[in-house]
Amino acid sequence: MTAKQTALRELPADLNRERLPKHVAVIMDGNGRWAKRQGLPRILGHRRGVDTLKDILRCCKDWGIKALTAYAFSTENWGRPLEEVDFLMTLFERVLRQELREMMEEDVQIHFVGNLNALPRSLQTEINRSMEETYDNKGIQFTVATNYGGRQEIVDACRAIATQVQQGVIQPDQIDESLFARHLYTSRVCDPDLLIRTSGEMRISNFLLWQVAYAELYITDTLWPDFDRTEFHRALCAYQQRDRRFGRV
Ligand code: IPE
Ligand code: IPE
Ligand code: MG
Repeated sequence: MTAKQTALRELPADLNRERLPKHVAVIMDGNGRWAKRQGLPRILGHRRGVDTLKDILRCCKDWGIKALTAYAFSTENWGRPLEEVDFLMTLFERVLRQELREMMEEDVQIHFVGNLNALPRSLQTEINRSMEETYDNKGIQFTVATNYGGRQEIVDACRAIATQVQQGVIQPDQIDESLFARHLYTSRVCDPDLLIRTSGEMRISNFLLWQVAYAELYITDTLWPDFDRTEFHRALCAYQQRDRRFGRV
């Protein structure tokens, strides 16, 4: 490893280790535009996007951030051309198969959230395998939102709770924020402290609607395939300058 590579692995000196976000969520947007700018087909942007995600995951581990959640495919993304959807599903499956060993070596616990039953069977198999094998890993909690919709997640939680009420397991007045959050797909991980969206779009696009209630938002014009450690560092500096008031003064 070169001196520069070693330096990049260390937490930059201007960041305060005590005030790092515990959980970072990213809306990885701009793959298509990145490809278009290079005169390439959109799908090659997705392929580059995977390299970015791998590096940001490793960076989180290197710098001591304990949870990363990435938005890989929304419930609305089925509306894209069939070839693009097919490419993405095949890409997810291949990357999972290729990266499992390294995730074990790097102590990554991977978890998928979303309506996984609607994904291709062979992808579901890889998803289940990776979740089972990495279940006891403690290095970082890595969550991938695939066929994920924030509204769908809330509806699913309501349905599960309503069923329990109907069966007499719980009473309606026992439903509070904490019980509700335990029925979301993300019950195993704390809410994101920082939500990053690349490519300049100023919207949430149905991502973690409940969980981002008090996340700090960071939006950059940089396209996802170009989002590197320097950009991530910039996002973390911006985060550390925020005054998180949570409604207080
Ligand atoms: C994000 O990049 C990746 C997915 C939604 C799967 P896009 O594919 O949305 O890229 P743009 O927004 O068209 O540039
Ligand atoms: C959000 O990006 C979904 C993912 C990054 C997976 P989109 O590109 O689908 O969002 P919109 O369409 O610009 O809102
Ligand atoms: Mg997009």
